[in-house]
Amino acid sequence: MNIKKILVNTLDGKYPILIGKNITPKLKNILDRNNIFSTKILLVIDNKVPSAIIKKIKKSFKKKIFLIYLTSNERNKSQKNVDKIINILLKNKFNRNDCLISIGGGIIGDLSAYAASIFKRGLIYVSVPTTLLAQVDSSIGGKTGINSKYGKNLIGSFYQPKLVVSDISFLKSLPRREILCGYAEIFKHSIISDKLFFYFLDKNVKKILHLKSPFIEKSIYKSCIIKKNVVEKDFKEKNLRKILNFGHTFGHAYESALGYSSKLNHGEAVILGISSAAKFSQHIKMLNKNDYNLISDHIKKINSQLKLKNFFKNGNIKKITSFMSNDKKNSDEKINLILIKKVGKVNIHHKFNLKKIESFFLNYFNVI
Ligand SMILES: NC(=O)c1ccc[n+]([C@@H]2O[C@H](COP(=O)([O-])OP(=O)(O)OC[C@H]3O[C@@H](n4cnc5c(N)ncnc54)[C@H](O)[C@@H]3O)[C@@H](O)[C@H]2O)c1
Repeated sequence: MNIKKILVNTLDGKYPILIGKNITPKLKNILDRNNIFSTKILLVIDNKVPSAIIKKIKKSFKKKIFLIYLTSNERNKSQKNVDKIINILLKNKFNRNDCLISIGGGIIGDLSAYAASIFKRGLIYVSVPTTLLAQVDSSIGGKTGINSKYGKNLIGSFYQPKLVVSDISFLKSLPRREILCGYAEIFKHSIISDKLFFYFLDKNVKKILHLKSPFIEKSIYKSCIIKKNVVEKDFKEKNLRKILNFGHTFGHAYESALGYSSKLNHGEAVILGISSAAKFSQHIKMLNKNDYNLISDHIKKINSQLKLKNFFKNGNIKKITSFMSNDKKNSDEKINLILIKKVGKVNIHHKFNLKKIESFFLNYFNVI
């Protein structure tokens, strides 16, 4: 079996990420090889993950294991489902050496990791990410969380898994727009820290989006290395880790201004956000025209219809900027943006007032 291994080493603990194809049917052997010999195992499973793979995983354990299936949506990333998981653990007398394994995307991963972190102050947690976004982003770095009626990801903890097992075979059943969500983060990782990786993506974008080997494996591997390097230096998001938000301030405002409509999903909003942050960087003369063109040409290759004017009208600008500032009343509010100096290098702290951002939108609305 060809398995690539990355070791993540944070102040909070060390753990391997294993990346390979069709590796989860032998999950029990993988746990053994990584010294995880828990007596009791609970699998928290996203119910859209194909049952054929789950069957093989269950069979690999050769003993009774506990299962809970959940539907993955932001409403279900809730305290109610954390309680459900914890009640199974308590009822079946799990202890801290027993193990919780999540098999799903970022929603099931964030929720399960949070439950694992608070159960008896932490039991062994293993992550099996099944979406591209979870494989390149949410399974690395130890951020766990759930939503509340006051907003997304407001309750959570930092808790590292003992092991991450990324099996590319899961991606075969993933809808195309979900693949794009993961690709948006891969693209972002290249822009914030690795121009050569960007050129690799630019040359192979179609093959990667169609999950062709070895292009998809290399994209996941490189992307995990970039995120690992950032979180190792700043695992509690005090400073450097903020560069991972590149494109997200604009992107979140686009999603919010459309009321999280299915017209524009998270990944598409992030790509539009990357485009906007790059144009803004060029507008303030931080980024040169050549590098801006590299980024905007790449976005055309991903999806030529991903343009601001296909989702918004000029009249929506104030709504977008108010979401960016998070305060609809205060027009003097300053907004922090992560901007880009060149492909492969970003800049963290830039405060701009709303007027400047509004005038940027007025100038470039039809360009981004
Ligand atoms: N912890 C972090 O650092 C971090 C980072 C980024 C995002 N997140 C969180 O991740 C979440 C988004 O994650 P996501 O994009 O993976 O979304 P998701 O978990 O909702 O999965 C997307 C969709 O794919 C389905 N799915 C999952 N695996 C599948 C498979 N193998 N085949 C077919 N369908 C499958 C799910 O049921 C869901 O409908 C958000 O809640 C976000 O807050 C966390």
